[in-house]
Amino acid sequence: MTTTVSAPPTAPAPPPRRPLLIAAGLALVLLAAGGVYWFTRDDGQTGAFDPDAPYLDASRPVAERVDDLLGRMTLDEKLGQMTQAERKEVGAGEITSYALGSLLSGGGSVPSDNTPQGWADMYDAFQAEAMATRLRIPMIYGVDAVHGHNNVKGATIFPHNIGLGATRDPELVRRIGETVAIEVTATGLDWDFAPCLCVARDIRWGRTYESFGEDPELASAMTTIVTGLQGEKLGGPNSVLATAKHYVGDGGTNGGKDQGDAQLSEEELRKVHLPPFQAAVKAGVGSVMISFSSFNGVKLHGHRQLITDVLKGELGFTGFVVSDWNAIDQIDGVRDVFTPEEVSAAVNAGIDMVMVPERWREFISVLRDEVNAGRVPLDRIDDANRRILAKKFELGMFEHPMADRSQFDKVGAPAHRELARQAVRQSQVLLKNDGGVLPLKKDSRIFVAGRNADDIGNQSGGWTLTWQGQSGPITDGTTILQGIRDAVGTSGKVTFSADGTGVPADTDVAVAVIGETPYAEYEGDRPDGVTLTQADLDTLAELRKSGKPVVVVLVSGRPVDVTAQLPQWRALLAAWLPGTEGAGVADVLFGSHKPTGKLPMSWPATPDQEPVNHGDPKTPLFPYGFGLTY
Ligand code: GLC
Repeated sequence: MTTTVSAPPTAPAPPPRRPLLIAAGLALVLLAAGGVYWFTRDDGQTGAFDPDAPYLDASRPVAERVDDLLGRMTLDEKLGQMTQAERKEVGAGEITSYALGSLLSGGGSVPSDNTPQGWADMYDAFQAEAMATRLRIPMIYGVDAVHGHNNVKGATIFPHNIGLGATRDPELVRRIGETVAIEVTATGLDWDFAPCLCVARDIRWGRTYESFGEDPELASAMTTIVTGLQGEKLGGPNSVLATAKHYVGDGGTNGGKDQGDAQLSEEELRKVHLPPFQAAVKAGVGSVMISFSSFNGVKLHGHRQLITDVLKGELGFTGFVVSDWNAIDQIDGVRDVFTPEEVSAAVNAGIDMVMVPERWREFISVLRDEVNAGRVPLDRIDDANRRILAKKFELGMFEHPMADRSQFDKVGAPAHRELARQAVRQSQVLLKNDGGVLPLKKDSRIFVAGRNADDIGNQSGGWTLTWQGQSGPITDGTTILQGIRDAVGTSGKVTFSADGTGVPADTDVAVAVIGETPYAEYEGDRPDGVTLTQADLDTLAELRKSGKPVVVVLVSGRPVDVTAQLPQWRALLAAWLPGTEGAGVADVLFGSHKPTGKLPMSWPATPDQEPVNHGDPKTPLFPYGFGLTY
């Protein structure tokens, strides 16, 4: 059954005003003895923690446990479950007093001790507060582990999705998901805001590298990562809740503007942007995050037809929907604080958990008012709670609420790094190789240049240790230069100069490792096109003066306009954003792995050619799917 997404959504007619069954509504009575919290529920019942309650019996079906628990909850406890706060924004005891259901780490929001132990200690301190609530409902903690557990120093950092798309290897991507889940659970956490299933259609978009590519079938194929992260079903020893994001059409906005407007026909939205979410739902993804962007002028965060009728109805999604970071503030088109109307619009549209990192207390109060005023039906609140609680039961969180501390050594483990190096090898796309200059010979004299040659931060890109990422030796890993040095060993000679000056006269070949420096989200938007920086052009000019053959390795989150310079290069290798295992690039440069990567994006011939995608009448410099080998 296809739901026609036609006119902009209209808020549902407010339900008939509930008779005020209990004038007092919710009353909180704090008894002195032992600080036991008693709640008078909105139906007048009271109840302390009952260790024999059916919802605590893991042998019972999840649906039964949900029904039992929901039937015990007060309105405030239900509102707390629907609220997600940032870790830095909750005070001592507030998780308990507000019965908060979820916390998150924003990009780069890490414990002072940024080690697996430090994360587990932080998680357990928060969870202990959740377990001190009347019904002892565990909180679920979300983090952006989008290419490894990338907030954690020393974690394995895998290639960003655009490189994984170039591998065309869904099984590899499943294994990566499995490995990331091990490193996430090793720090105690249970929810990963990944994978991004955006279909990037315009490389000017700052989040292009978070996409597996421009083709919906490619992104759909890579939803194997959901099974990697969650396991065949939730609740295994290293199972984390995955998040299909950002629903829907964030990669199709005008001009590639982040959080912009996707002005598309419903047919194109369904053909290009919806399929990866259908595949993720089929794979059993437990949560879906809504996109900041709009569809034909209507913010997705208020789009009831797309969220409730299409995602939950037509696609049959039974997990829970989470909003993006303060995204409900934008529903009315103004980037300010949320209004009561926006809170109602978001929840009534079908959002189950609201990411309100800072103003979460105000959110709870406003939502309570909206429910009591009859503008948000209680059965919508109950539906949201059912969805959230079901995932917490399926994850086994009631049985195992605290961090498993037995796997700290798995974070950044050698076997994980080897998998990441394999992914780097398979993601390399060879775009030019004149005269067989590649593979390089290990006994040759190689001059390496470029600011991306010896920089872990640059080769990892955004969402690494910090939200935006940063240049420099930010974490443990192998730079591309180190990989080249290791490959050559004593059989040849490697010299390096970031700016390309000082090329030795006996050099056989120069390798320029150039490209982008880290960025994330709208900070990476390039409305005028993606071009080489002056620093890189200057480095290339130095190499040109030397007269030596030049091999270019492009470290970037997307295709870059290289049309004018390409004729002066003997070879061009697209390395994307490889992460910590830069030796994988050297494996391809020296031929221990023949290049197998295929372009996940069409490569524009000029900046004003964007957007260019396979199937349209434009002729790119390199087409989608292009890739040479030896
Ligand atoms: C960000 C991103 C989203 C991320 C969330 C939490 O704004 O849009 O991808 O999961 O906030 O960090």
